Amino acid sequence: MSSNAIIVTGGAGFIGSNFVLEWIAAEKSPVINLDKLTYAGNLENLAGIKGDNRHRFVKGDIADRELVGALLREHQPRAVVHFAAESHVDRSIHGPGEFVQTNVVGTFELLEAVRGYWSGLADPARNDFRFLHVSTDEVYGSLGPNDPAFSETTPYAPNSPYAASKAASDHLARSYHHTYGLPVITTNCSNNYGPYQFPEKLIPLMILNAVKDKPLPVYGDGRNVRDWLYVSDHCEAVRFALKRGRPGATYNVGGNSEKTNVEVVKTVCAILDELRPDGAPHARLVAFVADRPGHDRRYAINAERIRSELGWAPRERFETGLRKTVGWYLDHMKWADNVTSGEYRNWIDLNYGTRT
Ligand SMILES: NC(=O)c1ccc[n+]([C@@H]2O[C@H](COP(=O)([O-])OP(=O)(O)OC[C@H]3O[C@@H](n4cnc5c(N)ncnc54)[C@H](O)[C@@H]3O)[C@@H](O)[C@H]2O)c1
Repeated sequence: MSSNAIIVTGGAGFIGSNFVLEWIAAEKSPVINLDKLTYAGNLENLAGIKGDNRHRFVKGDIADRELVGALLREHQPRAVVHFAAESHVDRSIHGPGEFVQTNVVGTFELLEAVRGYWSGLADPARNDFRFLHVSTDEVYGSLGPNDPAFSETTPYAPNSPYAASKAASDHLARSYHHTYGLPVITTNCSNNYGPYQFPEKLIPLMILNAVKDKPLPVYGDGRNVRDWLYVSDHCEAVRFALKRGRPGATYNVGGNSEKTNVEVVKTVCAILDELRPDGAPHARLVAFVADRPGHDRRYAINAERIRSELGWAPRERFETGLRKTVGWYLDHMKWADNVTSGEYRNWIDLNYGTRT
């Protein structure tokens, strides 16, 4: 008999913490949150559910098969939702090893632990169990200006060590379905933005630099195109895939919102001009810098499958989502200072030791 609980990996990171907060609010069933608390994981993101006994945080590594096995045996979850990863392309260029370790080896160890648990379940728990693997559109490579958007049948062509490590994890997850019958569902999502995103990523970096009157570094000519999705929409897509998705299927998730980087930065500046007129015009801070090596030109997502099969579509428009996001960062300057200064990391060690 499995319980009503789910295990979430990486639930102290950007998307994972939004997912956990929304899960507790919407679904109300227990969440075991396994996160290693790398630089990208922050328990402060989960302050809103501190003391809620439906949430249990466990500090640990997805590659620790023994720990994961023990959590599975103890909590008998009905699903594992796998967000944990090294996620920043620039870091993967400077240090790809961590990406292979967490995204490939970590996902493999996690899959092995889950396979051991799942194969010991009896029906209906075995049949109802789900492993939801959260991935990215970056596995598909780069598009030309007039190419059709990525669909679930687009061949994989990852270009950065990050994308390659995520592609490898997708292949492992797929193989566990085909070889062992593990009920795996994979989602490949476009660029997310919203509250709690670590300030190394484009949108929060631009907001925080602009507020501090620092340059706004834009790679190359700024014309690289990404599809942007508000994080709550992504979290809802994952919940839909978990509930209604077909085991073995993959679903592309996107926001129908293709923008060049320079458009994104200028929109952030325009919102700040309204909210912080003192620094206006913030676009004077835009500084074009040497391009990222191997920088993919364009990503675009065809999200027709998840719309027609599962009834999911994004709710938030880019303009309104971005306005909310800028507002959130302005209201949470202390959060941003803490996660970047290292002060928060010392506080974690002091308060939480190895496990809480
Ligand atoms: N951010 C995006 O735009 C985006 C888009 C599509 C898909 N994704 C995918 O969504 C997932 C979450 O992305 P994010 O932006 O929230 O990432 P993030 O970097 O903000 O968070 C990652 C979390 O995983 C944890 N973690 C890292 N290594 C771990 C390990 N070995 N064991 C346990 N926990 C570990 C970190 O502490 C952190 O809390 C990733 O799998 C990413 O590939 C992200």
